[in-house]
Amino acid sequence: MTDVTSRAWDRHARTYARLGAPFTGYIAQALFQTVAGRLPPSPRILEVACGNGELAKAAALHCLAEDPSGRSGRVVATDFSAEMVAHARANLAVLGAGDVVRCEVQDGQALSFEDRTFDAVLSAFGIFLFPDRRAGFREAARVLAPGGLFATAVWRGPDDNALARLQMAPVMAALPERIRAALPRPSWLEIASREGLEAELVSSGFTDVEIDVFDAVLTAPAPRAMWESMLENPVSGAVLARCSEVELAAVEASVLATFASLAGGADRAVRFDASCHFAVGRRRP
Ligand SMILES: C[S@@+](CC[C@H](N)C(=O)[O-])C[C@H]1O[C@@H](n2cnc3c(N)ncnc32)[C@H](O)[C@@H]1O
Repeated sequence: MTDVTSRAWDRHARTYARLGAPFTGYIAQALFQTVAGRLPPSPRILEVACGNGELAKAAALHCLAEDPSGRSGRVVATDFSAEMVAHARANLAVLGAGDVVRCEVQDGQALSFEDRTFDAVLSAFGIFLFPDRRAGFREAARVLAPGGLFATAVWRGPDDNALARLQMAPVMAALPERIRAALPRPSWLEIASREGLEAELVSSGFTDVEIDVFDAVLTAPAPRAMWESMLENPVSGAVLARCSEVELAAVEASVLATFASLAGGADRAVRFDASCHFAVGRRRP
């Protein structure tokens, strides 16, 4: 993907908390439940690229359910965007979970933790879009205890995932040829398939990798809200930023028309079917 900085995610944090996190947060919590039954007692859990911290919330509730006094288990929610971390901190504060959970600014490509610190490392829609994705997977393996659990959620490609298809198609249809021809193939598509994801996780130090499909629905309140989020999102926004004002107006018209037709009107909620993979593995001893 385009090499975006933490500042770009800082600028998107408020919109993401309102529009993205309620949707991906539900998926992130489901990802946590997928591994919850395999965690050891008093688990030490790391979330990488936590965004609003929804997965960490499920993890903290798991620890509190094990021991309401908060002596059992620890969760560290990390993200390289200070604004995302601030949102996660506020989101998690409502739990009153005290020492069970803490939030830190950390680059997932170069974590500051010692080797073998955690029993589980989890990342929903995070590592897959890092500029150096392989470094992200290697770091997750490094900070895991041997045999420790790793789980991640990765979007499936446009052929299998209407959310990706319906966002990309009207943009590509209206982008001027000079921009379209120069666009690199998004690198996350290398791991959008089951086979690609499994191969990369195995080569990053994981074993016993299981991959399942998870489907969900994203509802945006109106076509324009979704378009504005795409403009601000660091990944799609980097592509749209290449357009002149006139070119951008053409892309906007194309996207809004597609979304309005899906919604049945410009002021109606738009539903996008979405599909991702949940990958679960263990750190190779
Ligand atoms: C699509 S959001 C996913 C957030 C959250 N996990 C969720 O499921 O809602 C991607 C997140 O990755 C974070 N991110 C991107 N590159 C990162 C990096 N190198 N290190 C840590 N976090 C990163 C962004 O700041 C953003 O919060």
